[in-house]
Amino acid sequence: MFDTYSQIFDRRADAYHAAMRAHPLARHHEFEAVLQRLAPVGGERVLDAPAGGGYLKAWLPARVTWIAVEPAAGFSGHLGGADRGDRLLNCALEAMVLPASSVDACVSLAGVHHLPDRSLFYREVARVLRPGGRFVLADVATDSPVAQFLNGYCNEANSMGHDGCFLGEETPADLDACGFDVVADEQVPCPWSFTNRAELGYFCRLLFGLDRAGSAEAVCAAAERTVGLDFEPGRSVRMAWSLRMLTCTVR
Ligand SMILES: C[S@@+](CC[C@H](N)C(=O)[O-])C[C@H]1O[C@@H](n2cnc3c(N)ncnc32)[C@H](O)[C@@H]1O
Repeated sequence: MFDTYSQIFDRRADAYHAAMRAHPLARHHEFEAVLQRLAPVGGERVLDAPAGGGYLKAWLPARVTWIAVEPAAGFSGHLGGADRGDRLLNCALEAMVLPASSVDACVSLAGVHHLPDRSLFYREVARVLRPGGRFVLADVATDSPVAQFLNGYCNEANSMGHDGCFLGEETPADLDACGFDVVADEQVPCPWSFTNRAELGYFCRLLFGLDRAGSAEAVCAAAERTVGLDFEPGRSVRMAWSLRMLTCTVR
């Protein structure tokens, strides 16, 4: 039995990482969208929390110092080397081993929907950001098609289940109570791109640990029913992924 998300992520990390390695460009719109909102510039220190296997790094501009925080040992082993002065930290999101006011900006991509108390994480981000530092929080919106896919189909097709607590209407007030001014709150389409349906099904099966899925095509059909697909015949299939992104500054 796996009863905490820490254990579940340790168990799922290798397959998740294999999906990201096999199709490193599939989620490029997500990485570009969060960085467009964060707008980091050379010389800044950018915190990536949770970093998973370090996928944001490839999209950062030159001369940005990447500080990766990842709580699950299964993921942190994939973070790679700490070149360019980067820092790789395996620690809790709610108690990061970083000094106060030591980073300029923070991204949290798809990382808070399994946290038992998100406010502890938001306060920790506020602590480590310098005054006026920026925070982009990007995750699945409550009641969205993506939420339905994850807590519906993926919950059934993954023998460990999927029970995400997504971003609801309380999120801006929660961020405000933790010391942030929310300057934008948007639903951002960031479609996942593949060359064909088999690739899409293979990627999602690994990323979401869908060990009970009958076939890659069954995964693709579920994605089509819930999230939606669009096609450019002979060239690409895109899964209509979409995330809520809140852009904030710390007071
Ligand atoms: C969907 S992955 C996202 C990783 C990366 N930011 C990305 O976009 O690919 C979720 C991440 O949240 C971390 N995480 C979230 N909740 C957790 C919890 N309760 N315990 C341990 N790790 C957790 C996982 O370790 C993992 O890195």
